[in-house]
Amino acid sequence: MALLQEYNMGMDFTVKTFAGLEEVLATELMNIGVSGIQVIKRGVQFRGGKEDMYRANYLCRTALRVLRPIGVFEVTDDVQLYEKVKKIDWQEVFRLDQTFNINAHVFHSQLDHEQYVALRTKDAIVDQFREATGKRPWVAKEDADVYIDVHISQDVCTVSLDSSGESLHKRGYRIDADKAPINEVLASGMIKLTGWNGEKDFYDPMCGSATIPIEAAMLAMNIPAAHYRKHFSFMNWADYDEGLFKKVKKEADLEMGELACRIFASDRSEKAVGIAKRNLRNAGLHKDIDISVSYFDSIQPEDKGGILVFNPPYGKRMEERGEIRDLYRGIGDALKQSFSGFEAWIITSNMDVAKFIGLRPSAKIVLYNGPLESRFIKFELYEGSKKAKNNPQWEDESDYRKKDYKREDKGDYRKKNVKNTAGKFNRNDDRKKPDREEDKPRWKDKGDRKIDNDNSYSRRPSLGKPEKTGYTGDGKRGSRKKRPRI
Ligand SMILES: C[S@@+](CC[C@H](N)C(=O)[O-])C[C@H]1O[C@@H](n2cnc3c(N)ncnc32)[C@H](O)[C@@H]1O
Repeated sequence: MALLQEYNMGMDFTVKTFAGLEEVLATELMNIGVSGIQVIKRGVQFRGGKEDMYRANYLCRTALRVLRPIGVFEVTDDVQLYEKVKKIDWQEVFRLDQTFNINAHVFHSQLDHEQYVALRTKDAIVDQFREATGKRPWVAKEDADVYIDVHISQDVCTVSLDSSGESLHKRGYRIDADKAPINEVLASGMIKLTGWNGEKDFYDPMCGSATIPIEAAMLAMNIPAAHYRKHFSFMNWADYDEGLFKKVKKEADLEMGELACRIFASDRSEKAVGIAKRNLRNAGLHKDIDISVSYFDSIQPEDKGGILVFNPPYGKRMEERGEIRDLYRGIGDALKQSFSGFEAWIITSNMDVAKFIGLRPSAKIVLYNGPLESRFIKFELYEGSKKAKNNPQWEDESDYRKKDYKREDKGDYRKKNVKNTAGKFNRNDDRKKPDREEDKPRWKDKGDRKIDNDNSYSRRPSLGKPEKTGYTGDGKRGSRKKRPRI
């Protein structure tokens, strides 16, 4: 068990996230107390032990996967890949009776076919077992016991064990989704970027299946990111310490508290609100979030002041263009007329129509909604908010990191000796490249291709599929005595 025992000495982990959320994730990791934090492209590395790995999986809202590298080597062709993967002692990693699954991502390398990389990795693992035991372990497309991640960038191959298994955006509270649900990790990262801390009232006036309000409530009430989730891949590892994980869970769950503000969710679609209500009940949050069927322009906020965070339809299709301009124009009018004293944050990938909001943005953050480059735009609303006609700020694409985020995030990890290596990379590289199920647009999800037992490939089920949560929906979630600790 040499590979797994390295934990005791502390070892490196890579936590993956979406482009644009790396620094938010670094701050989350700093807050759970890990060391050696380094920001990389679409991820953060840290040094820690098994308990840190459990904590990162359970607590980090902007983490997609927590990877434990077990081999790093150079590869320029498939023969080298096969031989070097075969040198890893796979019988220390998993048993013959366990199933496994491989995800491969390749960037700027001589080996450039991801499915072939996955296939050759699988061959090397299977052949090693077969040569040693006369038998082979089997690949599972879904619910595999062990998930293996192969990442090749500029001919450097990193083979990791994926401790999360299913992507951590699968929180476990969603039982249904309407059109275009936003990814839970992105929703949570957006809320964190606004700096909202659960004190001011929160509105999502185009809530769809309620992802944004649910993530807001979880953040404000300190409900751990994976509180509703039942399974992580590390539970299948030979060194799984159930007692230690229970301790991590218990400590985090004790921090849960009551809401100190009101959260309002609404949508014009009755169907979407019906779905949202089911998700809220499943999360036990149906008494915490006020939900209704309303058109945005009919909402009259109860108090002066608060925050709106929402993702309107993007309307990319030709036939929707006129309609979508009117919608964005209407958003600007409603914000101006009814939400004076508020701040509003809108994510859209349609910058052409975003201009029709007609208000002056005070910040624009580049984020990726799946593969779609998007802007998360802030408007500060006050009596007589300015029209943005010919406003150079709409043309200014300089990113937020130079502005708001650095200034607002006072508890920043930078003060704690964190290195940022993200700048080393060329910005025009793989940022747009969707490589995992969580990166793909859900409303067009054609399924992620995974390697099959018989070397064929098959589609993953749609992400809209209900998660099996096992959660009773009775709202019992343990102690909520404390006030939120943000
Ligand atoms: C992209 S979806 C939001 C998805 C949501 N964030 C989620 O995670 O499920 C946009 C939503 O805006 C709603 N919508 C569009 N126009 C609206 C309006 N004028 N007033 C209220 N809701 C509207 C649609 O019904 C749709 O549910």
